[in-house]
Amino acid sequence: MAYNITVIPGDGIGKEITDGAVEVLKAADKKFGLGLNFAYHDAGGTAYDKFGTPLPQETIDACKASDGVLFGAVGGDKWDKVDPAKRPEKAILGLRKELGLYANLRPVKVADALIEYSPLKPELVRGADLVIVRELIGGIYFGEKCESEQHNGVERAWDLENYSVPEVERIAKLAFETAKLRRGKVTSVDKSNVLATSRLWRRTVEKVAKDYPEVECNNLYVDNCAMQIAVKPTQFDVIVTGNLFGDILSDEAAVVGGSIGMLPSASIGECTSLYEPIHGSAPDIAGKGIANPIGTILSAAMLLRYSLHEEAAADAIEAAVDKALAEGYRTPDLWKDGFTKVNTSEMTKIISERV
Ligand code: NAD
Ligand code: IPM
Ligand code: MN
Repeated sequence: MAYNITVIPGDGIGKEITDGAVEVLKAADKKFGLGLNFAYHDAGGTAYDKFGTPLPQETIDACKASDGVLFGAVGGDKWDKVDPAKRPEKAILGLRKELGLYANLRPVKVADALIEYSPLKPELVRGADLVIVRELIGGIYFGEKCESEQHNGVERAWDLENYSVPEVERIAKLAFETAKLRRGKVTSVDKSNVLATSRLWRRTVEKVAKDYPEVECNNLYVDNCAMQIAVKPTQFDVIVTGNLFGDILSDEAAVVGGSIGMLPSASIGECTSLYEPIHGSAPDIAGKGIANPIGTILSAAMLLRYSLHEEAAADAIEAAVDKALAEGYRTPDLWKDGFTKVNTSEMTKIISERV
């Protein structure tokens, strides 16, 4: 059995972290005889510089033809002034749309070894284990937009938020199915006290909930949810929410786990699934070799589990990460006195050796 994996390093720290994840995947391949083949493709600012487009058709085709996509990150100040339609971020947005990746699963779990690192009190984060199920190809991200127009003599811009019942139904179903395999609780997050799209969201989720009587379901407004994540993260099992709220809440939830560099994600839908850390291209540390590769390494483990059904190999990678942390190795984002500070490639090697 052989598997074809498309690797898209992208921009900034993208190359450093995907190099790390591929090295760990190769260690798992060696141990479990998976037969992994890797093919590299361009996207983001790097692709824009080479081809004049952030998402070459060849990259889309390669993703569609492969068994799983490992994505680093895109974006950077260098491309802030380019035509908005050609911004590096268009690459990941376009890939999500092209591959029909309607759901983004962002698990947040606090490694025992990192409980002391969270800016939240240890007694609050101990046992926190939640997953954000973020709708990924709808909402305000993909609604009609206007970059600039004159209206009554003043310049304005706008983005329209819209959601349809089928779009909300499919993400809600996935959230309930996910909760059934976990602790059986779904929290749906919206702003239905203000937004029409949120009112449709809430009534659709409540309708889907009726098909899952075994799953407890509650609603929170997004502003309260943002507070509750900091006040009591252990109250959450599955959080289901729209594209923009899910983006913001997942960066906030990352803090529970100590560093945004730790968090992986899986984007699933109609075609090949895509796996990427939740963080961006981190221009402030790019090229220094100090980025935390663990979010990408754990994304690679999710690829093995969900796309290739190679459970044992995925478990081995996750256990290797826990072991490296338990032994006290830390990249600078998580380092403090008394621990061993390592860079990206050292952390990668340490994890690979423990797979
Ligand atoms: P960011 O996630 O890149 O960085 C935020 C902060 O977290 C920075 O201080 C950074 O150094 C730190 N950080 C992020 N990942 C880290 C890691 N692995 N190890 C250690 N520290 C890490 O967010 P930003 O600065 O708002 O955005 C930078 C660029 O990335 C922008 O162009 C943005 O559009 C893009 N972005 C891309 C993606 C993606 O490709 N999926 C996701 C988010 C942001
Ligand atoms: C993420 C990022 C992207 C998003 C950007 C880069 C388009 O922030 O994956 O979380 O907003 O979805
Ligand atoms: Mn984000």
